[in-house]
Amino acid sequence: MKFFKNKAGRAEELRIPRHIAIIMDGNGRWAKKRGLPRTAGHAAGAETFRKIATRCKNLGLEYLTVYAFSTENWKRPPEEVAAIMTLLEKYLLEAIEKMEKEGIRLFIMGDMAPLSPRLRELAELTAEISKKLEGFQVNLCLNYGGRDEIVRAVRKYAQDYKSGLVGGLDEEGFGRYLYSAGIPDPDLIIRPSGELRLSNFLIWQSAYSELYFTDVLWPDFSEAELDRAIEAYSRRERRFGGT
Ligand code: FPP
Repeated sequence: MKFFKNKAGRAEELRIPRHIAIIMDGNGRWAKKRGLPRTAGHAAGAETFRKIATRCKNLGLEYLTVYAFSTENWKRPPEEVAAIMTLLEKYLLEAIEKMEKEGIRLFIMGDMAPLSPRLRELAELTAEISKKLEGFQVNLCLNYGGRDEIVRAVRKYAQDYKSGLVGGLDEEGFGRYLYSAGIPDPDLIIRPSGELRLSNFLIWQSAYSELYFTDVLWPDFSEAELDRAIEAYSRRERRFGGT
């Protein structure tokens, strides 16, 4: 059992969430503040992701989900999109080499169809390796949109219904049609960089998630910052609509 000191200096039990989800926001502003191209901000953001994923694993979390590229991010300048895709390829290649040794499962959530064949191939390979592993799982939301996920799920369900494969629908049954099938809902969603919205991230799964916002820009998000978010989560009282 881990403890943290509250404002009164008393020790309180640290409750480690099973699943944390993060909107990795603020890379562009971080770069601009330093007179660097936005792509430098994404490269720094990718490093922060690596550091925070390791921390989450060491703290004993079961799942970390990060928003790497949304269905809306295609509207960015082509050079920026290309730089993010290159970073993702680099990261996936590295993950393929290390995931077995480090015991990290990696899944991509999102529509992979418009991604490059190389990226799709790497994503499939990480999913295959992951199936053989157990333990900590990272979900990388890539070309992901919460509404898009729901619409796709509805279409698939309608097809299955028409084919007579399924009957009536309930919340649990619907969840099986989402990218997140089999993954518990996030307990805590963190958004750095001062924006106070979910931006189409996990809109079905976030129904009862605790939300944590901080002004720190994602590339500056530290392990201490993660610890602060978990401390804040530990102080929350989760009632899930009950008393
Ligand atoms: C949001 O910041 C960030 C993104 C749209 C891209 C996130 C991508 C990475 C961190 C790199 C690739 C990830 C991995 C896991 C290797 P923003 O550009 O919207 O920042 P701004 O709001 O300050 O402009």
